[in-house]
Amino acid sequence: MAQWLKNAIFYEIYPQSFYDSNGDGIGDFNGITKKLDYIKSLGCNAIWMNPCYDSPFKDAGYDVRDYKKVAERYGTEQDLLNLFSEVHKRDMHIILDLVPGHTSEEHAWFTESKKAERNEYSDRYIWTSWWLEGGDGLNFVAGESPRDGAYILNFFKCQPALNYGFLKPEKPWQKPMDDPACLATREAIYDIICFWLDKGCDGFRVDMADSLIKRDDENKSGTIKVWQDILGRVHRKYPEAAFVSEWGRPEQSIPAGFDMDFLLDWWGSGYKLLAREYSDHNGGEDNSYFRKGAKSGSAEKFLKDYMDLYEKTKGKGAIALITGNHDTPRLQPNLDNDDVKLFFAFFFTMPGTPFMYYGDEIGMHYIDNMPTKEGGYSRTGTRTPMQWSNTENAGFSTAEGNKLYLPVDKRNLAEINVETQEQDDNSLLNTFRKITAFRHSEPELNDYENLELLSHEPLVYKRGSIVMAVNPTGVDKKYKLNNKPAGNVLFSLGDASLENDEIMLPAGSYIAVR
Ligand code: GLC
Ligand code: CA
Repeated sequence: MAQWLKNAIFYEIYPQSFYDSNGDGIGDFNGITKKLDYIKSLGCNAIWMNPCYDSPFKDAGYDVRDYKKVAERYGTEQDLLNLFSEVHKRDMHIILDLVPGHTSEEHAWFTESKKAERNEYSDRYIWTSWWLEGGDGLNFVAGESPRDGAYILNFFKCQPALNYGFLKPEKPWQKPMDDPACLATREAIYDIICFWLDKGCDGFRVDMADSLIKRDDENKSGTIKVWQDILGRVHRKYPEAAFVSEWGRPEQSIPAGFDMDFLLDWWGSGYKLLAREYSDHNGGEDNSYFRKGAKSGSAEKFLKDYMDLYEKTKGKGAIALITGNHDTPRLQPNLDNDDVKLFFAFFFTMPGTPFMYYGDEIGMHYIDNMPTKEGGYSRTGTRTPMQWSNTENAGFSTAEGNKLYLPVDKRNLAEINVETQEQDDNSLLNTFRKITAFRHSEPELNDYENLELLSHEPLVYKRGSIVMAVNPTGVDKKYKLNNKPAGNVLFSLGDASLENDEIMLPAGSYIAVR
């Protein structure tokens, strides 16, 4: 695992919406460069930037038309290289987004692949043998090309699946994984990784990393094999390159060669029950554990999931805990500021690598029912412009309001912006800074192998000599320690306190003691 990951705290940037440096209404590379000191001031020392490559943007850039060319709207390649070097000057790191499962339907490989006559790219994508042959259970598109066949999709219609072969090929068009065409796909992805690492990025977040092998990929063994090959070679050549997978099963992705894997807000997942329980049912009571008003929220399922994965991967890789991302609803308004402070305190003191989604540090709100933008649909409300100040465009851009990539959320702008929260020691922004400062100041919090769970309710956990407890419920709680600590309170939120060998946890509080 890359050394720099040991104390990394990531900040995720959706480049469209972060900061517009040239007044055309859309965020760009130079805008990110201008805000690096801000990101660093948060205690974040690493950045994950969503796809920034040439694309028709039918899925916000996850439909790549040319992996080696930057999208014009974000600036030039030189601007990106300048961003890399400004990041490194500040002792920070930056990872790009790699989309290995599919390309845009406008990628040159696909233009070739669609042709009736056979060529080098005919088998770069998965095609059935003739136009009326369905996808054998996989989503497919027919009738769009001179080629007599249907192609398999990885996500939207605009995203044909790249061909890595099948673990158990059954139909003539299902190639074995070691077919030369499938090995050529691997090689092409390896080449793209090296291309950007050579230009100075520090690694990749890998989109739909578990999706490479379709159908009957038993326990993902085929997909794991492909990654072991690709990442094995990459890590030998670039030992300090870091890879985080969108996979959601660290017990599979870490052995596949990833350094870290995200826990995702899948239906019924323990992660989701912490803050987004509501979207598992239609209407009714929201019982997210971190929502004070919840009647029966519990961390039980999260702790069970987490501890199981932790035991399986400890010493080998990291679980990546996200506050949210460009696909999930934001924490607010479902949680309020006080709830979110506790959520941050918990997440940023757990082992593994934490990720802050831009705007979550000031409590930006999720917007329901926003008209879709670039394939965002319900995700669009999570991608609005960063709120820098209480001004017309929230300080995001000097363009006219109707030219912005997405409209600014003006509903609570007076409180939810960086400038205002800078002035208040108790704001969500400054509380987050205190939490990251606490994490950076205690080497034990960067040790990924020292977690002990002392109690589920209240939630009490130990890292080396530090005992931490959180009570996001509306009911006061206590916890009696086995050994009386020296009595040092290292960090606290709400009215938590230590009385002899007892931790007092009034409703809505957090404490760390040694
Ligand atoms: C991932 C991305 C998402 C994208 C999809 C297809 O889930 O996070 O934004 O739409 O993959 O690439
Ligand atoms: Ca711009």
